[in-house]
Amino acid sequence: MTFARAITKFGFSEDETALIAPDRDAAEKYFSAAGELFFLKDEFIRQYAVWAAIKPEHLEEILQAKAILESDADIVRLLGYYYHLLYRAEKKLAPHQLPAVKRLAAAESGCFYFLLALAAYPDAIALYQRKGYPENVLQDTLSDVSVWVEHYKNQLGFAGLTVRILGWLQGHILGETFRLGRLQFKPHLKFFDRVEVYRNVNTGRTVALSAAGIRYNRQGLLYEPGIDQGENGTWISALQHTASSVTGNPVAPEGYAKSEQITFDTAEWKKVLAGGDPVIDIHIPAIGPMTVEACADSAGRAADFMKKFFPELKHRAFSCESWLLDNQFEQILPPASNILLFQRAGYLYPFPHKSEAVSRIFGENAETPGLDSLPQKSSMQKAAADFLIKGGTFRNGAMFLLMEDLPWGSNPYRK
Ligand SMILES: CC(C)(COP(=O)(O)OP(=O)(O)OC[C@H]1O[C@@H](n2cnc3c(N)ncnc32)[C@H](O)[C@@H]1OP(=O)(O)O)[C@@H](O)C(=O)NCCC(=O)NCCS
Repeated sequence: MTFARAITKFGFSEDETALIAPDRDAAEKYFSAAGELFFLKDEFIRQYAVWAAIKPEHLEEILQAKAILESDADIVRLLGYYYHLLYRAEKKLAPHQLPAVKRLAAAESGCFYFLLALAAYPDAIALYQRKGYPENVLQDTLSDVSVWVEHYKNQLGFAGLTVRILGWLQGHILGETFRLGRLQFKPHLKFFDRVEVYRNVNTGRTVALSAAGIRYNRQGLLYEPGIDQGENGTWISALQHTASSVTGNPVAPEGYAKSEQITFDTAEWKKVLAGGDPVIDIHIPAIGPMTVEACADSAGRAADFMKKFFPELKHRAFSCESWLLDNQFEQILPPASNILLFQRAGYLYPFPHKSEAVSRIFGENAETPGLDSLPQKSSMQKAAADFLIKGGTFRNGAMFLLMEDLPWGSNPYRK
């Protein structure tokens, strides 16, 4: 295919063309003389699908969709260009920057992005070998692909990946996301600028103070115009430091900010965590229940792994931001629920962004207006539907756990 023909065929805009154009000759080296691309070969796909833990029936579907893609030499060229731009070019592009190939049907599109993920598996394996990361961590980390292939299947009826998930998987491929036991961890997060955390040198008590300038509602949750009705009863946090004290609005470990201010003598209260500090970011893959024992095992492994392989980062805490950390779940889930035990393991604080709760609990196509038709199979679905029907709205949340407060599950902040 000539480059010009591809541009016309895929209908790329001038800006999109300019993104792909500079490196197109460099991508030629991935093609054989017959125009074949190494990561489209069945043997390659079968070999690396084992690392991706793809179910046999999904693999067969992917191979069928691949055969359709392969029958169009222009698509094959485009895959070569995109492989180069993602993993080899001097100025690499993130998956969301790749021009969308709009004319692909769901099965082929899912396969297109799956192939681009799998194409980099040899690099991921080589990286793990170079760095000495354990092979079981590699297997667990790379197997996350199968979770998302399953998700694509459930949502769209075919085995594949979206471009958004190809973006999420870059962390796995580039050694920036690791699954260690039940949970996934990213070593390179800087703690968010939402709270400053102080610890009393005598009692060991830990208190988070809100960052300044945040508007909270009456309950001490973030004021959100889309959720809260008007600004009545809302208030804005303040935080002042002097040479010997700090004054601010405390946030309770249950995740509520308080409008009454407190002052700490900084000779007695030491700052132990603040915006910009290195923290380990936690993610929770959808691979079944997350018991407190499994999370404790996972957090312990992560602490050891990071100390061994990223000692220079000197992590201060674990950090997690998620729809699961909405403190309103205390009111609707049974006390022994794993989600509540997860929340209690850390120190909760309000965090912005729209909650993914509705799509995570009821499926991506669940629409809140159709409340009566929401599936109500699990106890959480029943409780969440009831909460929504009564006019409730889920909120995002976040939490931290200082490294020195391990083991996970000792609940150091709610005593
Ligand atoms: C996080 C997760 C593992 C928690 O599951 P869990 O360990 O079973 O949690 P709980 O013990 O609190 O569950 C209590 C009940 O809610 C159900 N439940 C939990 N998460 C649910 C979900 N996402 N959708 C529907 N029901 C859910 C459980 O099946 C259980 O139901 P039951 O009492 O009828 O048996 C699960 O929600 C999940 O896999 N989520 C997808 C991944 C995700 O959202 N990650 C976070 C991204 S930021």
